[in-house]
Amino acid sequence: MNILLLGKSGQVGWELQRSLAVLGRVTALDHDSTEHCGDFANPEGVRETVRALRPDVIVNAAAHTAVDKAESEPEIARLLNATTPGVLAEEAARLGTWLVHYSTDYVFDGSGTRPWVETDAPAPLSVYGATKLEGEQRIQQTGCRHLILRTSWVYAARGGNFAKTMLRLGSERERLTVIDDQWGAPTGADLLADVTAHAVRHLQSRPGDGGLYHCVASGETNWHSYAKYVLEHARQAQPAIELKATEVAPVPTSAFPTPARRPHNSRLDTTRLQTTFGLVLPPWQQGVARMLTEIL
Ligand SMILES: NC(=O)c1ccc[n+]([C@@H]2O[C@H](COP(=O)([O-])OP(=O)(O)OC[C@H]3O[C@@H](n4cnc5c(N)ncnc54)[C@H](OP(=O)(O)O)[C@@H]3O)[C@@H](O)[C@H]2O)c1
Repeated sequence: MNILLLGKSGQVGWELQRSLAVLGRVTALDHDSTEHCGDFANPEGVRETVRALRPDVIVNAAAHTAVDKAESEPEIARLLNATTPGVLAEEAARLGTWLVHYSTDYVFDGSGTRPWVETDAPAPLSVYGATKLEGEQRIQQTGCRHLILRTSWVYAARGGNFAKTMLRLGSERERLTVIDDQWGAPTGADLLADVTAHAVRHLQSRPGDGGLYHCVASGETNWHSYAKYVLEHARQAQPAIELKATEVAPVPTSAFPTPARRPHNSRLDTTRLQTTFGLVLPPWQQGVARMLTEIL
């Protein structure tokens, strides 16, 4: 199997380089690759790449993920999150290639408390959410063979993440304030990459199972409880760790105004994914604990 991986250096892209390797030959690109264009600001260059490589599977982990910045640069966000994924889908349809793409809980408005299912009506609150939704729609409209995984609150051991920020702040301050009214599930880039590899293999024999799925770790939390979990786990795992923070105070989202509005309810129902692909999505604490062990 020839696989084209785009966005190879991001959180998910990095883990996909590992998980896809067992499926075949992976050509992995990012925006400054020289041999082939992997720059999503250049849709026609990316089209040429697909035409030249003629992959069996395209996995797109590239995106404009700077949620607040997207509010002030909507054209660039749209190019990266909607236009170029649409071009990938056109080429995938032409070649009969599978396209795997990632989307987000931010396509929803965050109302209610029930986990969102794939058939719920999207209503994004932000430019990021709107451009990601447009990306989904463009892919679906081409009729190409596709797998779209909507996920949330992605972290990885590599690079910056929420847990690292909490550990740094916890070493500097006695009191932290963290939002407690946004609910979701922290999801490891490694989990997403492993699910992707399993699903790609599954789709080779069950092509009818393509489509849109929610893919997050199981359980739910809010940022405040997540922060407390990180600090408590760090203290247990490394009693010698120097953490000044003795109090983690819950505050509402309004305490930290940001350019982009974020959904309060980011819970995603993953029944469809687990049933169709015969997979089990582990509790979010399992992946976070593992990541903490790696970074502590
Ligand atoms: N992160 C989350 O919490 C989250 C939540 C829900 C859904 N998702 C979705 O999951 C997928 C993977 O996200 P992630 O967490 O791995 O994000 P990420 O770490 O920000 O990775 C995105 C990658 O896209 C690259 N990129 C930026 N501009 C590009 C361009 N012009 N051409 C090609 N690549 C470009 C980035 O490169 P640079 O770093 O060099 O700019 C980065 O390597 C995305 O579709 C995202 O929308 C993420």
